Amino acid sequence: MNNLPETALRYVPKVTVIGAGNVGSSLAKRLLDTHLANVVLLDVVAGRPQGIALDLTEASGLEMRPQQIIGTNHYGDTADSDVVVVTAGKPRQPGMSRDDLMQVNGQIVVETIKQAIAYSPQAKFVIVTNPLDVMTYLAWQTSGLPAEQVIGMAGILDSARFRTFIAMELNVPPEDVSALVLGGHGDLMVPLPNYASVNGIPLTELLNAPTLDRLVERTRNGGAEIVNLLKTGGAYYAPAASIYWMVEAILMNRHRILPAATYLTGQYGLHDVYIGVPCRIGQQGVESVLELTLSSEQQAALAQSAAAIQANIRKITQTLIEPAQLAMTV
Ligand code: LAC
Repeated sequence: MNNLPETALRYVPKVTVIGAGNVGSSLAKRLLDTHLANVVLLDVVAGRPQGIALDLTEASGLEMRPQQIIGTNHYGDTADSDVVVVTAGKPRQPGMSRDDLMQVNGQIVVETIKQAIAYSPQAKFVIVTNPLDVMTYLAWQTSGLPAEQVIGMAGILDSARFRTFIAMELNVPPEDVSALVLGGHGDLMVPLPNYASVNGIPLTELLNAPTLDRLVERTRNGGAEIVNLLKTGGAYYAPAASIYWMVEAILMNRHRILPAATYLTGQYGLHDVYIGVPCRIGQQGVESVLELTLSSEQQAALAQSAAAIQANIRKITQTLIEPAQLAMTV
């Protein structure tokens, strides 16, 4: 080994994180801790991203982190990012569904994408703002990018929750559990117990049907369970970890198979919708979609989840059309 600093040995990617809330700042810290990328943390609130960036920078010498972070309110600083992560938006409060955030967050996502794409036209975009699948569709439409470059985060988070609840039930470490959740990031998500295993042992051999049903239900409510405990916003450590692994798969061109919201063009019988399915993720973004054999019940549940997302896409695209555009289309 030579003793050149790590930064001299390889290209250091640039990741912009938009939204300096709990998810954005946890992600920024993790990107620095793992030496994966230089980070630009952007927020509309004056001072907040600068404060978080300065705090993280002050820890950098202690943590021996060579990568850098800046906090900013200006999109110009995000220029030529390799990946842009959009976490901007209002979080849920107790009693709210993710869909309740649609109007307010829709405006935020459209504004954010318009600005970010102007400075990073080649970037891959990872969308995290809720309601996730609808916001990812909106982001894709606004960006004008090929669909494979705009990806929604949540399948990996929902699958991580399912995996954790299985591990807790069986008293095994979560790393021994493999589990998959398809569908929208909402109450209609579709956990797949028949594709879950503990080191290759099918889950259906280890847990009975009522127990599986209980874990599936807890997974569907995984986000709300945390909102109800925290009372002031949603989860952030597991969401940040989920985003991290997507960003890593892109930057390191890992071709990993991860569940994520992607644009479907007939796979699973679904068209013109962003929804969670297993994707191969690498430098180009979503390289391919894996089509699994589903039971008729699972297929119906996925179709129902897609229909709910499509109804919301219709609603939001109608209300977000600007008056000038509306006049032109009449
Ligand atoms: C959750 C938010 C990120 O599921 O939707 O915790």
